[in-house]
Amino acid sequence: MTVGCKQAIALAVYITASPNSNILLPKPGFPWDMVHAIYRNVEVREYEFLREKDYEIDFDSVRAAADKNTSAILIINPHNPNGNTYSEAHLKKLAELARELKILVIADEVFRWTVFGNNPHVPMAKFSSTVPVISLGSLSKGWSVPGWRTGWIALHDLDGVLKSHKITTALKQFLAIDSKPATVIQAAVPTILKDTPKAFFERRQSFLREKSDVAFAKLKGIPALTCYHKTEACTFLWTELNLSMFANIKSDEEFCEKLASEENLVLLPGFNPMSHYLSMIKNWARHSIDMSVPELEVAFDRLKSFCDRHSKAPLKGKAANGLKQAKP
Ligand SMILES: Cc1ncc(COP(=O)(O)O)c(C=O)c1O
Repeated sequence: MTVGCKQAIALAVYITASPNSNILLPKPGFPWDMVHAIYRNVEVREYEFLREKDYEIDFDSVRAAADKNTSAILIINPHNPNGNTYSEAHLKKLAELARELKILVIADEVFRWTVFGNNPHVPMAKFSSTVPVISLGSLSKGWSVPGWRTGWIALHDLDGVLKSHKITTALKQFLAIDSKPATVIQAAVPTILKDTPKAFFERRQSFLREKSDVAFAKLKGIPALTCYHKTEACTFLWTELNLSMFANIKSDEEFCEKLASEENLVLLPGFNPMSHYLSMIKNWARHSIDMSVPELEVAFDRLKSFCDRHSKAPLKGKAANGLKQAKP
């Protein structure tokens, strides 16, 4: 067991690293993966997605990034921030490609209980007879308890590859000298996983489905932000910013800073603090939607007001908050 999925990520990067090795990470992805790889001196190589195929992994970009020093490909499924879930056929192809490239698959499945679209979640471990799989998870998203800091890492090593490369030993050694979740919660985990009623997840999924619908509809009224894929599985929306529509905003970082100071509203910029190492994801923003409808509506009204106010072509006859202007 690990201290949330974050420690599981740190651990997975650590136990698969070796001198001169590199790791394949999704672009976009969860910055924690990259930070830990860089901290461990593991070279980060990024792979891409195919927008026209509902954000499936672009296997050509995986092939192009991998070489003999690649140790692993990390996938996030369901994906944050793209908001999609990979089909069984897609995961099977990924497993076959990883086998061909002689790399293992690390699957961050922290969002596996918040799937509310049409595609069910398929665990990567289903393909562990094709390729060794390291699965990562936690209670934080499915049970809405991020503060419990309770997660896990599971090795699926049917052919003993991880064992023979001493990855299993490294894992045990790391956990022997590092912190663990509180023992009372550790003891409760088997019951939580086994006995949580289906209705609990259905409630949470329909809560998130409604938020995704509300947020996506609200975004339609903000022309400077485009969301290409309405999330059907995670608690975020991912939008592209059209900066040419703003009079005085030059980057996603500046957009988010001004939005926080003027509207007290926080979005996460796609801007990557490690961009001197990597190609940048320019001018995107990540929005959390895991809140009540009234809160979400206020958030999007503030966002709209901000965008209108900074727009190059201010709306005639309408105040920035969308209300009709009073006559002077
Ligand atoms: C893809 C992904 N993995 C891991 C985490 C961290 O999970 P935890 O809070 O359990 O450490 C997050 C949190 O947002 C996430 O988005």
